[in-house]
Amino acid sequence: MQGKTVLITGADGDIGRETTRGLAQKGAAVIMACIDKNAAMPLCESVKQESGNQNITVMQINLAKLSSIRKFADSFLKEHQQLHVLINNAGVYCHKRSETMDGFENTIGINYLGPFLLTNLLLPVIQNTPDSRIVNVSSDAHFQDKLDLQDFNTEKKYSGRKAYNRSKGALILFTQELAERLQNSTVTVNALHPGHAATGIWNIWPGTWRQSLITKMINRFMITPEEAALTSIFLATSAEAKGLSGKYFSRTKRKDQGSGMQPREGVWPLSAHSVVKLKEPSLQFRDKALQKALWELSEKLTALA
Ligand SMILES: NC(=O)c1ccc[n+]([C@@H]2O[C@H](COP(=O)([O-])OP(=O)(O)OC[C@H]3O[C@@H](n4cnc5c(N)ncnc54)[C@H](OP(=O)(O)O)[C@@H]3O)[C@@H](O)[C@H]2O)c1
Repeated sequence: MQGKTVLITGADGDIGRETTRGLAQKGAAVIMACIDKNAAMPLCESVKQESGNQNITVMQINLAKLSSIRKFADSFLKEHQQLHVLINNAGVYCHKRSETMDGFENTIGINYLGPFLLTNLLLPVIQNTPDSRIVNVSSDAHFQDKLDLQDFNTEKKYSGRKAYNRSKGALILFTQELAERLQNSTVTVNALHPGHAATGIWNIWPGTWRQSLITKMINRFMITPEEAALTSIFLATSAEAKGLSGKYFSRTKRKDQGSGMQPREGVWPLSAHSVVKLKEPSLQFRDKALQKALWELSEKLTALA
């Protein structure tokens, strides 16, 4: 990744941090896009020290605010002529319903509309870069729900789980539509499930007994953020992923524990514990009409069109 520039949102979250570390070790110039620039600086410095890679910087972005995304994109386009990889990694799970500065339900706003706008605004620089890649961090959680465009803001009957699952499905529809729109270019765009990982996203009831119980279970049964970062790193850097576009990849447990794996189409080893598999998203999140309708709605809501 020497000479290549990678932009990752939520770079100071748990999976984001490990993705940043992995990419820094591979020699990429990494731009960490974070809500709080000052709070992310110590991580930036420690990544530089550990990796010996001085090309790590932090930029401020708030995906819950369209004006912040526009401001971010403006300065990015002024400063950079190329962007080899964009990783839309930032995400939230909101137990209670709340809204972004622009009045969108927070989960759909931050997990989907923010990345939609950011990616579209950065397309000039992405398309100006040969063989560039867009990586959208989605989730297998999308299998559990459907997206209702009539209730895009989940106003009718809110559940944090439903809002999260829908937002991750929306990211998959976006991935497919963007891949179609970019099919005559060398840009690829894919979505992924990183595996269920013990991260800050599960800190739903901070400081309560309920949370302590959840944290115990999570730490026992879920994979580490390092392991979860491997799928993003695979899609961002590997020769195997080159040219694949509009696909969904899911991290799963490696059965042979690294002792030797028979090569199988659409399955790649990531580590002694993990493989990444090419997987079909759920039926609803492969629906072409919904894909197009969501794009049109998103263009209107973000004032892109
Ligand atoms: N952990 C899992 O089991 C799992 C499974 C499937 C998919 N994922 C996905 O993996 C991605 C990374 O999550 P994680 O598990 O590493 O959780 P995390 O530790 O909570 O990281 C989330 C990151 O997103 C950032 N973020 C939140 N709101 C933002 C906003 N408005 N603007 C910009 N950045 C914002 C957070 O910043 P602050 O910390 O400053 O708020 C944090 O850096 C997410 O997209 C998540 O949905 C996770």
